[in-house]
Amino acid sequence: MTLWSGRFAETTAAQMEQLNTSLGFDRRLYDEDITGSIAWARGLGRAGVLTEGETHEIVTGLETVRQEFATGTFAFRRTDEDIHTAVERRLTEIIGPLGGKLHTGRSRNDQVATDLRLYLLKTIDILHQQIAALQSALLDQAEAHVDVLMPGYTHLQQAQPILFSHWLGSFFWKFQRDRERLHDVARRAAALPLGAGALAGCPLPIDRQTLAAELGFASVAPNSLDAVADRDYVVEFLACAALLQVHLSNLAEDLIIWSSHEFGFIELDDAYATGSSLMPQKKNPDSLELLRGKSGRLAGALISLLTTLKGLPSSYNKDLQEDKEPLFDAIDTLALELPVAAGVIRTLRVNAERMQAALQDALLATDLADYLVRKGIPFRQSHHLVGRAIRQAEAAGLSLKQLDLASYQAIDPAFAADLYAVLDFRCSVQARAAEGGTAPVAVRAQLLQAREVLARGP
Ligand code: ARG
Repeated sequence: MTLWSGRFAETTAAQMEQLNTSLGFDRRLYDEDITGSIAWARGLGRAGVLTEGETHEIVTGLETVRQEFATGTFAFRRTDEDIHTAVERRLTEIIGPLGGKLHTGRSRNDQVATDLRLYLLKTIDILHQQIAALQSALLDQAEAHVDVLMPGYTHLQQAQPILFSHWLGSFFWKFQRDRERLHDVARRAAALPLGAGALAGCPLPIDRQTLAAELGFASVAPNSLDAVADRDYVVEFLACAALLQVHLSNLAEDLIIWSSHEFGFIELDDAYATGSSLMPQKKNPDSLELLRGKSGRLAGALISLLTTLKGLPSSYNKDLQEDKEPLFDAIDTLALELPVAAGVIRTLRVNAERMQAALQDALLATDLADYLVRKGIPFRQSHHLVGRAIRQAEAAGLSLKQLDLASYQAIDPAFAADLYAVLDFRCSVQARAAEGGTAPVAVRAQLLQAREVLARGP
């Protein structure tokens, strides 16, 4: 028998039961469901709906149910439709018909919305810690390799020399924004739906402010119709999750390229690589490929929920049950990935010689143009003159350093012997000392700032 079968003459079709049940995935909400029910029972007690003794008995019974879940002894029944009905059914078995008073003035509509918000708030706390651990690994590596030079790329073509620590720092800030966004989602998710009833509100003198405070919500959802329907916080979370996932993917992609034989800039620790069943020599960056490959499902989760929500009439509709699987999948995926990403970074071996050896003189072309600017030549013109030098050097099979002074002066007499001093990778990075640049002093300042931000929290 279901909790609502009173008005039905016939039982539900078996296949309908299978379609209808959410227990397979919402059982993970048991703790939040019980916490919410305990608060509701206390609220009913304060409103004079339950006596003190009844409230106590219900709360104790619910704690027993929680204990059964925690110890793995809770037995589900085939007729349990979802976690809410399962908990209430078991409560009634333990304390008798009094259990039937718990649902007074409440609906599963405001109940599930409350459970889900509580669950998401707890999850965001865990994700915060996992992202912070990844950020901390990035900073540790940056501090350990603060002066290592490497080619910087745009369009995956060598562009200008940078510090490897600057690249590591770039990902610190992406993940920092992810944490700030999650923090912002949590702020908006912390509004209490409980007390909204099925859609129209609660006819009992329930003090929702006290209820909110007891459950750790910052405010009370101000409109009951909106409270039972609102899944904005899930959409916002999934948008943040999808973007965080894209950042993990971007991080992975750089490292996959750099771990190839052709680059050889970094080597993954064995703990984060796998071999081939066929080719004995292979060490594959599977960890990184999965950090990249999970992007489809995270983006899919967001699109899935948006599509579910689009076109719904007001207040609660059963479609909303479809919010959970994409949400839980996104959470589980990130919870698997983030520790791996941190581990990969923490154990990364950095081949500074290979990075240095990959630097081509042509990376200094901008510095040479800047040199002409210092001699009074407008940048547009100096850009063109250096372009000609590059073309000549390339035609002669020479690097910029190898092209002789006479050839430079034939291009423009402003070139002088001091041009060769500019053609130095370290000078090039040192020159970019404005805040946020790749000069060692700027990167050191950036890393200090990052440490402070990390210690402060989002
Ligand atoms: N399992 C449902 C969900 O996840 C709980 C709410 C059911 N409400 C209802 N009126 N049938 O949304």
